[in-house]
Amino acid sequence: MKIISVVGTRPNFMKLAPVARELETRPGVEHIIVHTGQHYDADMSDDFFDELDIPSPSYELGVGSGTHTEVTAAVMSRLEPVFAFERPDLVIVYGDVNSTMAAAMAAAQRGIRVAHVEAGLRSRDRTMPEELNRLVTDHIADLLLAPSADAVANLAAEGIDRDKVHFVGNVMIDSLVRALPRARGGRDDRGRRFNVDGPYVVTTLHRPSNVDDPEHLRDLLVSLEELSRETTVLFSMHPRTKRRLEEMQLKPNGGGALRVLDPLGYLDMLGLVSSASLVITDSGGLQEETSFLGVPCITVRPNTERPITCSEGTNELVSPTGAGVLGGARKVLNRKGPRVRPVIERWDGHAAERIADVVCDGARF
Ligand code: UD1
Repeated sequence: MKIISVVGTRPNFMKLAPVARELETRPGVEHIIVHTGQHYDADMSDDFFDELDIPSPSYELGVGSGTHTEVTAAVMSRLEPVFAFERPDLVIVYGDVNSTMAAAMAAAQRGIRVAHVEAGLRSRDRTMPEELNRLVTDHIADLLLAPSADAVANLAAEGIDRDKVHFVGNVMIDSLVRALPRARGGRDDRGRRFNVDGPYVVTTLHRPSNVDDPEHLRDLLVSLEELSRETTVLFSMHPRTKRRLEEMQLKPNGGGALRVLDPLGYLDMLGLVSSASLVITDSGGLQEETSFLGVPCITVRPNTERPITCSEGTNELVSPTGAGVLGGARKVLNRKGPRVRPVIERWDGHAAERIADVVCDGARF
């Protein structure tokens, strides 16, 4: 059986890693990795392949950045000859980025079966490109590999045949469980490297809705600076956010302990997050990772496609304004009592095994 996994962006890589590892153990499976190149900087891509022990891609399509349509179109047209040459039995796509939807569409157009890892998540906010990518991908996929019970319910509500849907669990957590000892092992070094002494908050912001409007971004940044007068704030900055700040000639004023860092590698990020007092983010993956770790998280968005992280995990949505961030952060930081590590069904480090069982052996979950 020949399987092609298509990935393109930072959050795809930690979903691919455990699946690639598991497929290697299955007899009769040839697994080929294609990297679309939607993310291309070393600290957004190559470093993750190294840290997660992912085999090098057999194909690198080099699509780079562009509008959503440009990226989607480039991925589709560059994938078509790969699919034509390799003639895979199955294409696996991950998450909700433009590369995900483009690869699913290019495969489906050729009549190749598609499996979607992380199927069924819905924010119900169609202004987000990721929501459109999720909807299209799920409706053309043949195997829908859902991370949580709410995702299964979403697919049922959209009339998708239950036989195509498998509740395999959250594959991001597989990567986390495997990497955590290494990530924590270097904690002292990490502390020294980031010059962190005492409690700290980790933040990431990169969604267009938070960073593309200069006034909005300024408002958020001012609130982080204000928070940094009360506790250390480490801001791991996505290139998109960095570029916006440069365009605005905005620099954190250095009045407090707000530290802007280049995008962190997987182990550095996981190590820092696992010991943080709080994470402030608009990332999807961090909502899940903090929930698994029992670390409080505030998500700077009006909605989430991962509501289970709020109902069962440690995540809270705050209004995406400076006042929302500051109020939410202070509320969490002033909270007393021990931390509880939530247990979410099938976030257990074994999702990739279930995925391989479905894909290779026709198992049902
Ligand atoms: C993409 C995903 C988003 C995901 C995020 C994780 C879509 C629609 N969005 O958003 O869901 O949360 O990745 O990072 O697919 N850039 C670089 N170097 C890189 C990559 C990007 O400099 O390696 C800069 C470029 O200026 C680029 C901008 O970041 O224009 C945005 O990159 P893009 O891939 O379009 O979207 P993300 O914002 O990264």
